[in-house]
Amino acid sequence: MRMDIAMNVHVTDKRPLALRMENITKRFRGVVALDQVSFDLQAGEVVALVGENGAGKSTLMKILSGAYQCDGGKIELFGKMLARANPQQILDLGVAVIYQELLLANDLTVAENIYLGRLPKTRSGLIDWNAVHAGARRAIARLGFDIASDAKVGDLSVAHRQIVEIAKAMSRDARIVVLDEPSAVLGDSELQSLFGIIAKLAEEGVSFIYISHRLEEIFAISHRTVVLRDGRCVAIAKTGDLTKDKLVKMMVGREMSSVYPDRQPRIGPPALSVQNLTNPWLKDTSLTVRQGEILGVCGLAGSGRTELLRALCGVDGAKSKSFTCGDLNSMPTSPKQALAHGIGLLPEDRRHQGLFIEQDLAFNIAIAGLGAIRRRGFLSRRAETRMAKAYIDQLRVKTPGPRETIGNLSGGNQQKCVLAKLLNAGCKVLLIDEPTRGVDIGARREIYQLLVDLADRQGLAIIIVSSELPEVIGLCDRTLVMRAGRITGELMRGEMSEERIMHAATD
Ligand SMILES: Nc1ncnc2c1ncn2[C@@H]1O[C@H](COP(=O)(O)OP(=O)(O)OP(=O)(O)O)[C@@H](O)[C@H]1O
Ligand SMILES: [Mg+2]
Repeated sequence: MRMDIAMNVHVTDKRPLALRMENITKRFRGVVALDQVSFDLQAGEVVALVGENGAGKSTLMKILSGAYQCDGGKIELFGKMLARANPQQILDLGVAVIYQELLLANDLTVAENIYLGRLPKTRSGLIDWNAVHAGARRAIARLGFDIASDAKVGDLSVAHRQIVEIAKAMSRDARIVVLDEPSAVLGDSELQSLFGIIAKLAEEGVSFIYISHRLEEIFAISHRTVVLRDGRCVAIAKTGDLTKDKLVKMMVGREMSSVYPDRQPRIGPPALSVQNLTNPWLKDTSLTVRQGEILGVCGLAGSGRTELLRALCGVDGAKSKSFTCGDLNSMPTSPKQALAHGIGLLPEDRRHQGLFIEQDLAFNIAIAGLGAIRRRGFLSRRAETRMAKAYIDQLRVKTPGPRETIGNLSGGNQQKCVLAKLLNAGCKVLLIDEPTRGVDIGARREIYQLLVDLADRQGLAIIIVSSELPEVIGLCDRTLVMRAGRITGELMRGEMSEERIMHAATD
């Protein structure tokens, strides 16, 4: 359902330079994250920044924003050389970086977030709340969205939080906007609107740096593409001169064969079965997933696909006529109870899913599987490290080692750790919302192989919610299609095609 993204922006003529980053180098305790990276950005230009997980994309942007200082190199912004600048100065110069991990204050309202640190005052020195709310409403309406200015940001969907971030940037008259993987949290129609906004603002002269692992987005929205690999800039090209294959090869440094592994499914008895599941989003939904089966769930954003997964592991208090999963004969009442019975959920919003950001990888991966390592009454650090190391190798997590603080990992690598944690908990039924969101193309293949091994060799039942139809077709034995909280289609492996799935999803 990312098929219809075709919002090509106009190719710009030579325009004044907005930004030049030259020979940027950054080391973290001896590890070289960026090695003499140079690129430039014209006014009104959209540059895509691509590369595998850990290639250095976010680090480069944090140097631009002043969040990190570089160890070497120069930055020229709107014709001025920048010496050491702090984040506030960069912001004042018109650069807004919207990070992968959003930085909004969840307890404040939308309007307060947009005007954070610069609330307008009335003549008597009080905060002018009318102006705050009116300004916030204008900023959001300009983007074509309708979000209440007095809503608490913590209550918004991740997609809407992203829109608030962009509104905040635009209301500060940003002239360069960096979007670090916006599509990881946006639905298809929201992404479409975002592309409309980018194209319009680019025409007005705003420059964009757009980071994404989804190549079709790169082709749809960018004028030029900058490719990073292992901290080096390996190519800068006009996007129109590239093909998908060329781009992948530059990113991973080798030819990639098909990403979907061969399957030898051995489908067994039912692993989880539910009848007439109902909650505010789901209407009498019934399904059975069998041992060794990979079941897809497709549908447009808002069709109830994510709610279905959440309901199966006890979130949102869904009711059902019957529920069976191993020795469990009633709906789990919490994700914790679900996990104790072998049902694990990998949610859409991974960053907020119980990673202890200050702790190391081994701790985080071990936490849900404590039983296994603690068997003899103590938690063996050695066992924990060994286990974590195995997952690091298996999932190709880019990190100095199992004792690295997880908060220092790149976004995609943190996600792989959440998956490792779930695998380590010994689940029998895995519920995975968007298995490869934010994951680079090389690692994507590893994840598919891993899921296929878990199903074909270990007999796990896996339910995948995905908006990437090729992924569903390439991986699943069967797929359900949802619309408005109901299952409206069911297709077996040989019957699946993008057209048929879309058909069941839309009318
Ligand atoms: N604060 C830090 N301390 C130590 N190492 C870090 C820190 N920040 C980043 N790194 C390392 O620098 C490298 C580049 O990370 P970066 O976050 O820039 O990657 P990325 O290209 O944004 O990846 P992704 O696509 O996964 O978001 C990684 O190896 C990462 O572990
Ligand atoms: Mg990143």
